[in-house]
Amino acid sequence: MTQTYRPIIWKDDTLFLLDQRLLPQTETFVEVKDLKGCALAIKDMIVRGAPCIGFTAIYGMALWVKAQSEVTVVSCRNACDEMIAARPTAVNLSFEVNRCFEIMRNALVENQSKQDIYKKLVAFGDLQIKESHEKNTAMAKIGLDELKKKIGDRKWRLMTHCNTGFLACGSLGTALGVISYANSQGKVEHVYADETRPYMQGTRLTAFELSKENIPYSIVVEGAASYLLSHNKVDAIFVGADRIAANGDTANKVGTSTLAIVAKHYNIPFYVVAPVSSFDVTIPNGSHIEIEMRPMNEITELKGIKLAPEGAQAVNPSFDVTDHQFITGIICEKGFINPKNPGELVRVVQS
Ligand code: MRU
Repeated sequence: MTQTYRPIIWKDDTLFLLDQRLLPQTETFVEVKDLKGCALAIKDMIVRGAPCIGFTAIYGMALWVKAQSEVTVVSCRNACDEMIAARPTAVNLSFEVNRCFEIMRNALVENQSKQDIYKKLVAFGDLQIKESHEKNTAMAKIGLDELKKKIGDRKWRLMTHCNTGFLACGSLGTALGVISYANSQGKVEHVYADETRPYMQGTRLTAFELSKENIPYSIVVEGAASYLLSHNKVDAIFVGADRIAANGDTANKVGTSTLAIVAKHYNIPFYVVAPVSSFDVTIPNGSHIEIEMRPMNEITELKGIKLAPEGAQAVNPSFDVTDHQFITGIICEKGFINPKNPGELVRVVQS
């Protein structure tokens, strides 16, 4: 599980982001100077993936504090709300930024200096990325045990959607972390990576990571799911999450729900892997999750090349919600959750 790529680098009081729009052909870092630049980098998907969006925002809040002549509880709250507005679906963004607000408010109550607050936020960001590796490793081990139980102790053919590796998490990865860890244990025969239109996280980013790890893989169009599953080419499917409701309904990259329904039809186990920071138990079910709608040209163009006729309309929901009944299991760092057992998710997440 080599991991030499860090999508987020904090160095000499400066934030650098690996520009994921240009991968795999170009590896370049963008320097982020302030809160506005950070929120824009998240919105424009220079950095993406629920955990990395949250971690990046923490450093963005540190840059904001550094730039202020004075910070107040009210100005902190306004800055936090500005950052949270960058993208609506991944709960990790508000989860981490609201924790920053608590750090700032508590420090202000104790009359700590602006410099102290700044240092605390940077340390908080560093700690989240460090702990992310431990959490992802715990989830990977739970995933491996589940596969051994569910499918048997042999080499597996696994499928995944979007990108949920170190580019999305800053460390090992969630769903792709299970696959990477299983490979390190000699348990992976082949991986099918959905191309994941329109942003191509599968073709560009997951393939990039699988190549780096020398894991055998094939890229597939989303529409190939029924073909692959009906021809018994896949043993299990692992996906990530942007927001998981109290009943287990899961928001993730658009196309996830379709894949889950096809998997159910062919009786192929379908797993969601996500840290507790991606759960939102304040909402009872998926109907309460805001789905980000992104620009039409992400569909009508490809890298600036027009694919559709002039004036063509497109609908571009960036995420969808998978009904919990189509999910075999949800894996978080605290354990395995069967979403069909009412209340189990909240018990595990709050344990
Ligand atoms: O639009 P993106 O690339 O940020 O969407 C990412 C996903 O949907 C991931 O599956 C999810 O954020 C989990 S990343 C560990």
